[in-house]
Amino acid sequence: MTCKKNITLSVNGVTRQAEIEPRLLLAHLLREELNLTGTHIGCDTSQCGACTVMVDGDVVKSCTVLAVQADGKEVTTVEGLGDMEQLHPIQQGFWEKHGLQCGFCTPGVMISMVGLLKENPNPSEEEIRDALEGVICRCTGYQFIVSAVQHAAQLIAEGNAVKETIVSSGEGH
Ligand code: FES
Ligand code: FES
Repeated sequence: MTCKKNITLSVNGVTRQAEIEPRLLLAHLLREELNLTGTHIGCDTSQCGACTVMVDGDVVKSCTVLAVQADGKEVTTVEGLGDMEQLHPIQQGFWEKHGLQCGFCTPGVMISMVGLLKENPNPSEEEIRDALEGVICRCTGYQFIVSAVQHAAQLIAEGNAVKETIVSSGEGH
């Protein structure tokens, strides 16, 4: 019999509790226990990046993190970036610059690029492509993703609002 653990974490600004097996991966907690299916699982080798989320502001592949390791932390998934009333600039960038095709990689790509823009608000094309390493897109050829990220950087520089949960995520940790 497996001993279950109780964990409490903040997901997209909302406190969530779960009773889980210690072996449960964060990706599975998000998708199967919390019904946040925007975080995708595209491989079993930690290579595709479709499962990328933020934990305390750090970009991580949620298939490489145990859910118990997120106990007490702040997790941001693609669902927390924005909504129809207020798209995150990265979502607006992807919308306007056609940064996706099938969309399977898109949640992980967006979270990775939000992490990049927090560190580097004005990345060069080379820096964007470097940051995309580890997040595989099988459709776009990446050029439209690069354009979308550059557009998002411009929107943020122009003062477009970012939801408070994202701004606060990672600060003070
Ligand atoms: S599911 Fe592929 S890296 Fe996590
Ligand atoms: S848009 Fe299809 S995998 Fe990236």
